[in-house]
Amino acid sequence: MELKSLINNALKKKSPDELIAVSKKSELKKTLNVFDLIVLGIGAVVGTGIFTIIGSAIQGGPESVGAGPAIIVSMILAVVACVFSALCYSEIAAMIPVAGSAYTYTYATMGEFMAWMVGWILMLEYAIGNITVACAWTGYFVQLLKGFKHILPDFVVNFPMWLRNDYRFMFAYCDKYGLDPHSQMPFIFDKIPFAINLPAMVIVLLLTILLVKGVKESTRFASVMVGVNMFMIISFIIVGSFYVKPGNWVPFAPNGFEGVFMGAFLIFFAYIGFDAISTTAEETENPQRDLPIAILGTLVICTVLYICVALVLTGNVPLGHIDIQAPIAHAMRAVGMDWFAGLISVGALCALTSVILIYQLGTTRILYAMSRDRFLPKSLRLIHKKYRTPHVLTWISGIIVILCTFFMDLSISAELCNFGTFTSFIIICIAVLILRKTDPERPRPFKVPFSPLFPILGILTCGGLMLYSMKFLTTSSLYFPLWLLIGFAIYAGYGYKQKRLEEKQRGQRRVKPKVEVQTK
Ligand code: ALA
Repeated sequence: MELKSLINNALKKKSPDELIAVSKKSELKKTLNVFDLIVLGIGAVVGTGIFTIIGSAIQGGPESVGAGPAIIVSMILAVVACVFSALCYSEIAAMIPVAGSAYTYTYATMGEFMAWMVGWILMLEYAIGNITVACAWTGYFVQLLKGFKHILPDFVVNFPMWLRNDYRFMFAYCDKYGLDPHSQMPFIFDKIPFAINLPAMVIVLLLTILLVKGVKESTRFASVMVGVNMFMIISFIIVGSFYVKPGNWVPFAPNGFEGVFMGAFLIFFAYIGFDAISTTAEETENPQRDLPIAILGTLVICTVLYICVALVLTGNVPLGHIDIQAPIAHAMRAVGMDWFAGLISVGALCALTSVILIYQLGTTRILYAMSRDRFLPKSLRLIHKKYRTPHVLTWISGIIVILCTFFMDLSISAELCNFGTFTSFIIICIAVLILRKTDPERPRPFKVPFSPLFPILGILTCGGLMLYSMKFLTTSSLYFPLWLLIGFAIYAGYGYKQKRLEEKQRGQRRVKPKVEVQTK
């Protein structure tokens, strides 16, 4: 009996009508229009992927080989995987315009337990992904300071390495150059190494404060950031195209299929973010019309830009000379345009800032939806009286990201983020297939064309890229199942009980008024 009710509860679904009814009572302000959503989309998509990770996708990383100039084929592969999922996101987001993205949609199709797991997986995409971006932010910030070395004092330009890296990086660095770690960073009580990524922490803190103030203010700020970074990327494409040497595109695919597939897995990070648009469904004025336009529009704009950037980058710099940390800025330096490299760093910082902002927004909105579903304590879903934002959750997610910058590594967090996102994309494709069967009559303002073929292709492309890369990325493919296991343990040990407890309390509250009326 006990086991039966446990299974029943774990499989309990929330009907789309119930979800929509709850969201109608939402206290979140409905202020976003299609332009705001596209700005949010581009702001969430264009960032570390195109400004930093493209370097390793072309050259190869510690556990993978590079695609070379065939990175454009990798990009096309990655975007194909994204397009099928984007179409599925659009169908569900327009049909159930509720905060929480894949988490909410899974609740409507696969039940409570899977919804919890998807929420947990989305934390990989948003919170862990944000650590990657915050670390990359520091990289470009240091580049920018170096660009001003003639004006700024030396202690600012070359501020200590232990104030801009985590302790593991510091140990690896000392190991590589045969240095004594005690000479490179302070040790607390002479035992505990102390190194922090200060710029990453400060930027996350500032953006958390901004997000507490309001989503409209945040998107306004994001639109300025997006404007600057778009200007820089387009300028890079135009200026860089004058320096393209077609000879640099040969050999086109130095590592064959393996390079192209691994490149596609890594550069997938550059496309992540369009799904963040659907997390703000409850704050959108006309979600049915605007969400699909914004999701697909963002993907089209970014793909065109990325392919142009990749062609210019690989055409400007010979293979083997492409920089891993700041490839775009370095390409301009390589063709003798140092001043322009400095401007590119400004554009990159703007891009990374808007990604952090939007990912923080996404993290809180998913947690908000989970807390509203009573998986998390009620106190977490408090809305700020003045700003009407979920301030407690905003602070918690900001603090978690800040703490993680103490020990997380950029490449591992990017790979984990990709694994999490591929999984959530696969689940969205499955959810579309399920809802078409279980709820065929529900109005669908947008429909995935050629269903079930397109959702199935989405599952195959995302799943294929993920499984293929697991062969090579041994570290992160070990952490990923571990993350799932921790999520399962939290659900079993806390989430499940918390939900039953709140359901019971709610039931009692419903009964209480009747009793009072009778006694009067
Ligand atoms: N697509 C986002 C970026 O590249 C995650 O930073």
